[in-house]
Amino acid sequence: MYHHTSGPYISTMNLAVLGAQWGDEGKGKIVDLLSPRFDLVARYQGGHNAGHTVYVRGRKFVLRLIPSGILHDSVTCVIGNGVVVDPTALFAEIDELVAAGVTVGRRLLISDKAHVILPYHRDLDLLSEARRGERKIGTTSRGIGPAYEDKVARRGIRIGDLADPTALEKNVRDNVTARNRLVSETTMDWRPVLERLLEQAERLRPWVCDVSLALSEAMRAGRSILFEGAQGTLLDIDHGTYPYVTSSNATVGGVCTGLGVGPRAIGAVLGVVKAYTTRVGEGPLPTELLDERGQRLRDTGNEYGSVTGRPRRCGWYDAVAVRYAVRINGLDAVALTKLDVLDGLDRIDICTAYRCGDRLLSEFPSDLDQLARCEPVYESIPGWASPTKGAHRWADLPENAQRYVVRLEEVSGVPAAIVSTGSERDETIVREGVLAI
Ligand code: GDP
Ligand code: IMO
Ligand code: MG
Repeated sequence: MYHHTSGPYISTMNLAVLGAQWGDEGKGKIVDLLSPRFDLVARYQGGHNAGHTVYVRGRKFVLRLIPSGILHDSVTCVIGNGVVVDPTALFAEIDELVAAGVTVGRRLLISDKAHVILPYHRDLDLLSEARRGERKIGTTSRGIGPAYEDKVARRGIRIGDLADPTALEKNVRDNVTARNRLVSETTMDWRPVLERLLEQAERLRPWVCDVSLALSEAMRAGRSILFEGAQGTLLDIDHGTYPYVTSSNATVGGVCTGLGVGPRAIGAVLGVVKAYTTRVGEGPLPTELLDERGQRLRDTGNEYGSVTGRPRRCGWYDAVAVRYAVRINGLDAVALTKLDVLDGLDRIDICTAYRCGDRLLSEFPSDLDQLARCEPVYESIPGWASPTKGAHRWADLPENAQRYVVRLEEVSGVPAAIVSTGSERDETIVREGVLAI
């Protein structure tokens, strides 16, 4: 047991906000909500596989590559070296924002070390999924994996490389030729790829900089940073349900490698968790509900991918998975989202452990085969009849909803600093004092 009123009080200003489940936890809403408290918001990994939704007075914004702080004029948005950038997707997103009246201009910084997603990465993503057949990952088909493959294979093209057309030509030609040789199904021409890149280089140039240096200078000048994660802990390349994961470190370690900041730059870590569980794509999901209860969560929670529109798989809250995220990321607190989706349910189940054969597991297994054999152990608690939707004070929550949140805190071993009761900014309970932010 712990008392949330005397929870960790951390004075260091910078905060990491990241997914503590399988992505789509509501990071966009939480980052947007907290952004006015920070000078900079920085993405450290992933690419436009992310879809971070923000509602502002009924207007919907889905941020993919641009940090979710962009809707606040005072915030500078940063794309770190750990992000993979598709310039076409980036420009489309910027154009959409500008059309909606958002100023981007000088408020954006992009690392010269960030790797570029090229058109053939997308083709290779689709091809690789087709080749895997039954064992497909269910990727977002944005070319994310193949772009990170090129990065790790030390043949990737970085944003900074676009400034040198001669070297770029050789790189693009060699890469495309090598891929053509490797993948017999493709005969790609490198010339249009190069031409496009050279055009795009012009538009990118004003935003490109040494992000690590810019952040270090900002911190020395007393400015604060929110580090925004994409995807979620269980989709992390190292700590997720490999191979059913994305190709980057969505967990807290990614902040340091993906931005070039030291570990002490991270003052506190806030995990974002849904009041139940969802996953999009393939791979294990122990608490998945394949019946009408799962459909009820999908319908009420509008659980359809913000990027691909795919229906999300839904299930009860999995405290084993969240405790794992607490350990992997050293979470100080969580923001609990979508509590309102559970309004009106008679009873709600919470998975507190897994049963694997005759063994009871309290820790998330690192072996995927073992995880696949796990059955959730549930505790059932009463639901609530009156709505939590839109509540912005703890005292306004029905007693059983309060009990549910407190029980989640107990079984997850982490306090809830924020409880979200709707997609709008003001549909939020901020429990001041749980986490100093
Ligand atoms: P992200 O990828 O973690 O930013 O999450 P997504 O944006 O992909 O998915 C979360 C969805 O839930 C979005 O449509 C949000 O507008 C919505 N959402 C966030 N918080 C709440 C909440 O507390 N209640 C409800 N009903 N919807 C929410
Ligand atoms: P946000 O930031 C949920 C999933 C895909 C697939 C796997 C690998 O909005 O939470 P990839 O295209 O990255 O190679 O796909 O990861 N995935 C996400 N699921 N939310 C996301 O982002 C995701 N980004 C990737 O569905 O299972
Ligand atoms: Mg999303």
